[in-house]
Amino acid sequence: MAGLDRDIFFDPEFRRGEMLTYGDISIYPGLSDFDKGDVDIAGKFSRELPLNVPMVSAAMDTVTTAPMAIAMAKLGGLGVIHAAMGVDEQYKEVRAVKLQLSSKIEKPITVNEDSTVGDVLQMCDERGFSFRTFPVVDDNGVFQGLLGQKDFDFALGQHDALVSEVMLGAKDVVKGKVDTDSQQAFELMKPEKVKTLPLINDQGRPTAMYMLSDVVRELSGNPDQYNLDADGRLRVAAAVSTSSSMLERVERLHSVVDAIVIDTAQGDGPYARAAFDEFRSTFPNIQLVIGNISNGDSAKYFADRGADGIKVGQGPGSICTTRDETGMGVTQATAVYECEKAVRGSGIPICADGGIVKPGDVSKAIALGASSVMMGRMLGGSKEAPGEPELEKDGRMVKYFRGMGSAAAMRDSEAARTRYGGDDSSNSPVPEGVESRIPYTGPVQDIIHHLVGSLKRGFSYVGSGDLETHRTKTKFGKMTSEGSRESSPHDIY
Ligand code: XMP
Repeated sequence: MAGLDRDIFFDPEFRRGEMLTYGDISIYPGLSDFDKGDVDIAGKFSRELPLNVPMVSAAMDTVTTAPMAIAMAKLGGLGVIHAAMGVDEQYKEVRAVKLQLSSKIEKPITVNEDSTVGDVLQMCDERGFSFRTFPVVDDNGVFQGLLGQKDFDFALGQHDALVSEVMLGAKDVVKGKVDTDSQQAFELMKPEKVKTLPLINDQGRPTAMYMLSDVVRELSGNPDQYNLDADGRLRVAAAVSTSSSMLERVERLHSVVDAIVIDTAQGDGPYARAAFDEFRSTFPNIQLVIGNISNGDSAKYFADRGADGIKVGQGPGSICTTRDETGMGVTQATAVYECEKAVRGSGIPICADGGIVKPGDVSKAIALGASSVMMGRMLGGSKEAPGEPELEKDGRMVKYFRGMGSAAAMRDSEAARTRYGGDDSSNSPVPEGVESRIPYTGPVQDIIHHLVGSLKRGFSYVGSGDLETHRTKTKFGKMTSEGSRESSPHDIY
């Protein structure tokens, strides 16, 4: 048999210092009992942050803000909101993900009956709210009515109109008591076919609100496999840099995020290790993912000190120049394998960050030991990535995409400088990344659906029913250059 178990295939005696990456290896097929539909691809980003789909969008300023994180969580994966912005702005982005849906919205944002439609729209703009449904209150906080999207529509752009003039008045609103559960909410909404149910306390104040779509999703058992927290809200993570204000940022973010990622190019360097220890001793219970590293000793170091997840990848990214600049680099397949081997049995998930070029690379990363993959370029051309598509002279639609270590990103952001310089020093570190343009790819959903389909087929070829089986069952072969040529379309017009 040409295929070998990963521990034999990567045995140092056998490899003798040779490093490999995804394109250098191929997966050996096996007798399979699984069709694509039977395969469970649930993974993990950190110990207590599960993923229905083991795919994560990169903490880059041209990849992940709220729209990407919302889309990724709705697809079963996760977005890591980048740190190259002020703390208030990052808080707003994370909160926008958390407010996107919720089986029960506690303490809903209210508006005053004497505000104008224009005031409310301005607030939505300033605070980044994508929703348009608000309980309306008087100066004492007593419920006066409900303002919804259709009220904005029928106001026909009259921004001076008072909320009290356009809202649905309290007497016509279907309401519930504070202890209404989601089943009861559904029963109350059904006869009048209303889509919103405010819950009003004994003092007449709105304390919570149900939205029909969220109630239906909860009662039907989350059929779309959104990645939801215990309160039915989308899961989201946020990156922080190793700067001296790191703890303040975490203090602000921790109530609204599911995990924090200490995001640096040298996760095992002096600044990152100090930041990790400081974080862990201050916030022992927050899910903490540390990165990036690419060797087993460093993975073990963080596993022993209480990391909840480890992010692996130094220089494999599409826009990285770290290896060219420094001469350092463990190619990604070897790095993922070595790091997972070092922490195997600890329950700490490895995220394989960067270098996913072909859909089949995801299956390879998981077979090597990853519990998730993080992607920049694969997702950076999509509609949900920040920035607008541009039309090139040759008629192609493209999007701007840049490394966080590019000169431009470091000029624009302290977090990017810290990612590559380690401390708060204003000296510009040497760039370790480049700027680029990549093809516009449309909705991210199309990309993730494609990757998920390919991953499930990949599992099926091996006969793996889930991630753990895929790791233990997969056998690897070494790819030759002729093999690579044969493996993509060839000799055709
Ligand atoms: P892909 O290949 O998915 O990689 O685009 C995304 C990952 O690359 C890392 N990253 C960088 N690495 N210089 C680097 O050496 C950079 O400028 C840079 N920007 C991003 C990061 O880990 C990301 O998730």
